[in-house]
Amino acid sequence: MWQPTQIMMNGDLMPYEDARLHPMALAVTYAATVFEGLRAYQVPDTNQFSLFRLPEHIRRLQVGMKLMRFDRSYDTDYIRDCLTRLIRANEPDTDVYIRLLVYIEGTGLLATTGPVGFTAAAMPRDKPKFVDTGMNLGVSSWQRLADNASPPRIKTTANYVNARLAVHQAKADGYDGALMLTPEGKVSEAPIACFFMVRDGRLITPSTSSNILESITRDTIITRYQELTGDAAIERSIDRSELYFADEAFLCGTGQEILPVTTIDRLPVGEGKVGPLTSQLRQDYFDIVRGLSPEHSEWRTLI
Ligand SMILES: Cc1ncc(COP(=O)(O)O)c(C=O)c1O
Repeated sequence: MWQPTQIMMNGDLMPYEDARLHPMALAVTYAATVFEGLRAYQVPDTNQFSLFRLPEHIRRLQVGMKLMRFDRSYDTDYIRDCLTRLIRANEPDTDVYIRLLVYIEGTGLLATTGPVGFTAAAMPRDKPKFVDTGMNLGVSSWQRLADNASPPRIKTTANYVNARLAVHQAKADGYDGALMLTPEGKVSEAPIACFFMVRDGRLITPSTSSNILESITRDTIITRYQELTGDAAIERSIDRSELYFADEAFLCGTGQEILPVTTIDRLPVGEGKVGPLTSQLRQDYFDIVRGLSPEHSEWRTLI
């Protein structure tokens, strides 16, 4: 499989192993970093890649930078140009996962607002595990971050301390992954993905006030579900005990794509198998991201 050879820092390509950031940069000392994970899917029978929902990723990045009071921003055209050069330089022959990090590269005090720098890296991704078997999730005793403490709505690296604690607890307890609750005890999300469940034929997901990242994949699924079934997904708060009434469940995110969940707290979700709606939405998602389905061309930036 191809491996990254070139990385981009502040708009310039350089050998992947030559990238450097000073350890005293605020990005490191105070986690003054916001980031995005994006995917560029190979479009079959062409030499093109389809960057999925680029403007929405950049919009979220820009809001994160604003809230973190970074003293400059980047627009979609500039980032598209950078990512195009980055992908071409790495000559990928499979789908590409992109990490885009924007940070304070200067040293200084906690409130320092610049200079701001960015790094973009392109890499392959292994086929995700659990696609066929489904995941065994455990509800974590680590609470999801509160919006008025460290807002999960922005994708800042500091938020992933919380996610890391939950992942390691789940591993130590023998689960494939964790599901986190809000400080009020309502279902929030997984450490790096959003959560959906099916109950009595309705698709339900925690609302955006459940301390979640406003996931672009979640939005894609809500939109496609409505278009495919004519029914609206329900965005609301979910009690923990409702999890055990679910007939199907899955996680979603750019990196995870759509992963079925077959047990929660070692109790089967429905019949403990990958559910039919989960499979249908998953297939549809791949058709959309690759452009096999002509709908939503506005979601695909071809490069
Ligand atoms: C905490 C968290 N929730 C949800 C998601 C999914 O978000 P998206 O669909 O925008 O990739 C991610 C992945 O980036 C995440 O880190």
